[in-house]
Amino acid sequence: MAKRILITGASGLLGRAFLATFSADSEWETLGLAFSRAGDRLKKVDLTDPDQVAAVVREFKVYTDYVFDGTKPPYKPGDKPSPLNKYGLSKAAGEKVVTESSPGNIVLRVPILYGMVENLDESAVTMLFSKVKDVGKPAEMNHYERRYPTLCSDVADAVRVLVNSRVKSADLTGIFHWSGDEMMTKYNMAVTMAELFGIPTQHIIADTKPATGAPRPFDCHLDCSRMEELGATKRTPFKVGIKPVLERFYP
Ligand SMILES: NC(=O)c1ccc[n+]([C@@H]2O[C@H](COP(=O)([O-])OP(=O)(O)OC[C@H]3O[C@@H](n4cnc5c(N)ncnc54)[C@H](OP(=O)(O)O)[C@@H]3O)[C@@H](O)[C@H]2O)c1
Repeated sequence: MAKRILITGASGLLGRAFLATFSADSEWETLGLAFSRAGDRLKKVDLTDPDQVAAVVREFKVYTDYVFDGTKPPYKPGDKPSPLNKYGLSKAAGEKVVTESSPGNIVLRVPILYGMVENLDESAVTMLFSKVKDVGKPAEMNHYERRYPTLCSDVADAVRVLVNSRVKSADLTGIFHWSGDEMMTKYNMAVTMAELFGIPTQHIIADTKPATGAPRPFDCHLDCSRMEELGATKRTPFKVGIKPVLERFYP
């Protein structure tokens, strides 16, 4: 009998990669959930409504073992908050709720992500490409914080390793990390994008000051050894992963 996985946020950047990866695996039966972008393939469930959540868990007959990355604070007025914000939770507090609400729960932390986007503004990585393409306009790109851009489908693959391990061993709990291993600043990402498409780079200017906005460490490296011990391996090189993502935005 196929194992079942309920994927929340399946209309979003990360969730759509999860849905694609698990749907392509005959061992898994999937149900993708969404909210404003629900439709034929995605069931509408408001995650801020406990009754709707309980109903879908009951109907789809899944155990609630979470693989989950906390929440996204609204960094500036107008940013769309994520469901846990309804409960006034920060990312770290959201993780605490998940790990403490049941001893079997799991948190997966991930860094800056990119993947198949509906528009360039959907990810902090693809967003850079709009400025890269605009060669007539100087574009300052942060060249201070060390980031590790990670392809969503690699995260989905790692999650499949994680949940398969969790199904075999109920002892597997707590906090895990998964990340690409290429250290790049946003400036490095922008120059790589330009070079991939033969776009001149003179307008791309390295900004060596710490970024303003959401505070983050100088080096955002995550220790992925727990996931590597389980057998997670897929780390697509940035040049290979980003090219098909951007191709449809560069005629
Ligand atoms: N993107 C990154 O670089 C990155 C990096 C680290 C961690 N993360 C974390 O990964 C998670 C997913 O990120 P993402 O970039 O994939 O986000 P996203 O593209 O903004 O997707 C968010 C998803 O949440 C759904 N959603 C929002 N409010 C909802 C509600 N009330 N009820 C049900 N569903 C609701 C949205 O559904 P509709 O669109 O259908 O309304 C959408 O599918 C977040 O927790 C984020 O903090 C992301």
